[in-house]
Amino acid sequence: MNQPLTHPAPASVNEDFLPLLGTDHLELYVGNAKQSAYYYQAAFGYELIAYAGPETGLKDRASYVLQQNKIRLVLTSSLHPDTEISRHVDKHGDGVKFLSLWVDDAQAAFEATVARGARPHQAPQVHEDAHGRVVTASIHTYGDTVHRFVERKDYQGLFMPGYDRPRWKLPVESVGLQYVDHCVGNVELGAMNTWVEFYEKVMGFQLLITFDDKDISTEYSALMSKVVSNGNGYVKFPINEPADGKKKSQIEEYIEFYQGAGVQHIAVETYDIVHTVTELRRRGVEFLYVPETYYDDLTERVGAIDEDIAILKSLNILVDRDEHGYLLQLFTKPVQDRPTLFFEIIQRRGAKSFGKGNFKALFESIEREQALRGNL
Ligand code: FE2
Repeated sequence: MNQPLTHPAPASVNEDFLPLLGTDHLELYVGNAKQSAYYYQAAFGYELIAYAGPETGLKDRASYVLQQNKIRLVLTSSLHPDTEISRHVDKHGDGVKFLSLWVDDAQAAFEATVARGARPHQAPQVHEDAHGRVVTASIHTYGDTVHRFVERKDYQGLFMPGYDRPRWKLPVESVGLQYVDHCVGNVELGAMNTWVEFYEKVMGFQLLITFDDKDISTEYSALMSKVVSNGNGYVKFPINEPADGKKKSQIEEYIEFYQGAGVQHIAVETYDIVHTVTELRRRGVEFLYVPETYYDDLTERVGAIDEDIAILKSLNILVDRDEHGYLLQLFTKPVQDRPTLFFEIIQRRGAKSFGKGNFKALFESIEREQALRGNL
C-alpha cells in the first residue's frame, strides 16, 4: 500500500529532468507528400490516419499522418515556393525535419533544455479543438533537424488539432512494424563529440556505447559512432561521424547529398522479421545485399538461434549476438533518390546492442552501392 506523501520526496541526484515517454512521431519534409503517403502505405504497410491541408484550413502546406502500431510518420509538403519547407526540400531532398518526443509536460521540457543551452525553435504553443489540447514546443539539434516535444495527455483526437480524417486511404495490411528502436544522426567530421555533449548536458542523456574506426572500418572507409540514450532507455540516438579511410566514407557521401548533418536511418522493431521482410520485399522495398558467404560461418559466430538459417539467407537477414541475447537486422536502400535516409528493420531477441558484428558486412554492402553511384 502506498504511504501518503506528507512532504516532497528529496530530489535524487539522478533525477531525470527530461522524462521522455518515447518517440511521438517523425515528420519528414518531402517534395510530394501525397505520393510519399502512397509509398509508405503500399510498401511499408502504414495506415493513413489523419490529414491537414487546404481543406482543413492550412494555406501553405499539406501533411499526411501514417501509423503502424506505435510508429507515426508525418509527411509534409509545401504548397508554395520560397517557404521554409520548400527551402528545406530544395537543400536536403526528402528528409526528417522533426524527431518528436512524447512528454508529459512540453513547457517543462522546453524550459529545462533551453536553460541548459538548447537553441529554441518554437516556444510552447497550445493547440485545441473539440477533442482536447496538445502542447508542443521545439528545440534545434544537429543540422536543420528539430526535436519537438509533444504533450498529448489531454487529447483524444486522431493526431493533433488541425488534422482531420483523410479523405481517401489505401486499404493496407500491417507488415508488423511496432515501434522506433533508435534514430541515427550523421554529423560532420569532428562534430560527433559536440553533439554527444549536447545530448548529455542539454537533454540529460547518457553515453551508452562508443564505436571507433577500428570497430567500423572496411578496406576503404571508416566511421566513428557514439550512442546516447535517455534515462529510461526509450529514446536512443547513435551519432556518426566520418573517419579517415582510403576512399570516401558513407557518412561523407550522406553529408554531401544531404548538404549537412541529418537523420541517416530510423530503426524500427518487428516481432517477426521473417514475416516483415518477406512482406516488404513482396511490396517492392529494396534492401542492401550481403553476399551469401556471410551465412557460411553464421552458427559459429552467433551460436544457436530459433530461426531457420536457410530462410534468413534467402531474405538476406543478418544476425548478431551480445551478452544479453541476439538480434536480427537488415537495412533498406535509401528511400529517396539521394543516398540519404534509409530504414533499418530490427528484431531484438534479448540483444541490447546495435549489430556491431554486422557492421563490416553492412558497410561493404553500402560501399558497393556507393561505387555504383560513382561516389566511392
Ligand atoms: Fe541502426
